[in-house]
Amino acid sequence: MAILPIYIYGSPILHKKVAPMVERPKDFDRILIDMWETMYDDDGIGLSANQVGLDLRFFVADFSLRDKKMERVVIINPEIISAEGESIEEEGCLSLPGIREQVPRAEKIVLRYENVDHQVIEREFSGFPARVVQHETDHLNGRVFTDRISSLKRSFIKSKLKRLAEKAASGKFAKDID
Ligand code: NI
Repeated sequence: MAILPIYIYGSPILHKKVAPMVERPKDFDRILIDMWETMYDDDGIGLSANQVGLDLRFFVADFSLRDKKMERVVIINPEIISAEGESIEEEGCLSLPGIREQVPRAEKIVLRYENVDHQVIEREFSGFPARVVQHETDHLNGRVFTDRISSLKRSFIKSKLKRLAEKAASGKFAKDID
């Protein structure tokens, strides 16, 4: 097991769309173990593969951290196929340490994805899990949550984002940021 370095805002891999995963890497099981370990180590609720530098279209999320009745999921090749309603709540991100913002999201979505057993699933998510799924699917589409806030709000955190991007450019990871 290993804690993987988390790429920060400004790293090119976080700002491009990740293509669907056609074939799984041979060491996929180990990658999953490392991603869970990395996510829990940093108190995250979800983690997408490109956040740890992997050009693979999947993410992991543990909804039970917020709601004990829910499970944890591995979501491969996610596509949001419908969305309705709106909710606004505060979000943070392991790739944007020190930044939290109110982010508008759909209240309810239907997601098509593959599970670890290669089954294609269409599942409805609402409330908190819907927010996490949208946040992580955004990552895989090259977007971070600050891309979803108004340009006025973004102007207030411009210097923080600039500082993160400068650190990313000099090869720093989330663990190097205090
Ligand atoms: Ni994130």
